[in-house]
Amino acid sequence: MRKKIVAGNWKMNKTYEEALSLVSEIDNMLKDEVSGDVTVIVTPPFPFLHAVGKLTQGNDRLHLAAQNVSEHESGAYTGEVSAAMLRSVGVEYVLVGHSERRLYHHEDAQTLYKKMKAALAQGIKPIFCCGEPLEERDADRHFEYVGQQLKDSISYLSNEEFDQVVIAYEPIWAIGTGRTASSQQAQEMHAYIREQLSRMFDAEAAFNCTILYGGSANPGNAKDLFSKEDVDGGLIGGASLKSRDFTDIVKSF
Ligand code: 13P
Repeated sequence: MRKKIVAGNWKMNKTYEEALSLVSEIDNMLKDEVSGDVTVIVTPPFPFLHAVGKLTQGNDRLHLAAQNVSEHESGAYTGEVSAAMLRSVGVEYVLVGHSERRLYHHEDAQTLYKKMKAALAQGIKPIFCCGEPLEERDADRHFEYVGQQLKDSISYLSNEEFDQVVIAYEPIWAIGTGRTASSQQAQEMHAYIREQLSRMFDAEAAFNCTILYGGSANPGNAKDLFSKEDVDGGLIGGASLKSRDFTDIVKSF
């Protein structure tokens, strides 16, 4: 069965106190209002992982993700955070290849592959992000663009490794812009991604892979997006910073 996931990517927002209030508000709302089979993930900045992890460990309602991981195992890499460190504070998932990391930190396809390997070696599931910039969409090259991103990083994984991976399709023109992809645009890209994955790995694994949509998703459009056959949930930015909005998105399945 394909897992449904709603993950909140907090990006570089919140202080310690604010992070703890947000996560406990979300937890309380989930406890009172959500009884479904959705895996809910929060992705706080590094300094808050340990504290938030205390709330998520042994809690079926909430799961913990990190926003980044080093491709290196350990050693002289100032400012980096290893997969083993993440694991030791209860991190279960990690974002890899978010467009903001690709753009501002020049993370290339091989680095992203190594980051996934480093995470997998510690039993952490990568959430691999892909998505095209506006000029590729306007030139009608979005399928090739995203197909290439998958080929360049994901295709080098083994079938066993791929089983642990979640994909997030985030068209760059929809991130933080208020301009969401239509549910039709999301569906056709998700179906395309699944088809590409079925060529790289076995068909059943591709069928079972969770593919999230990200980019200006909110309580007003989540239901429509999640109603599509190949849209298995969302990776939520701005709307994940408000407990009410985020929980309403979780309830949109
Ligand atoms: P927004 O929901 O703010 O558009 O961000 C999407 C995103 O980048 C999630 O990773």
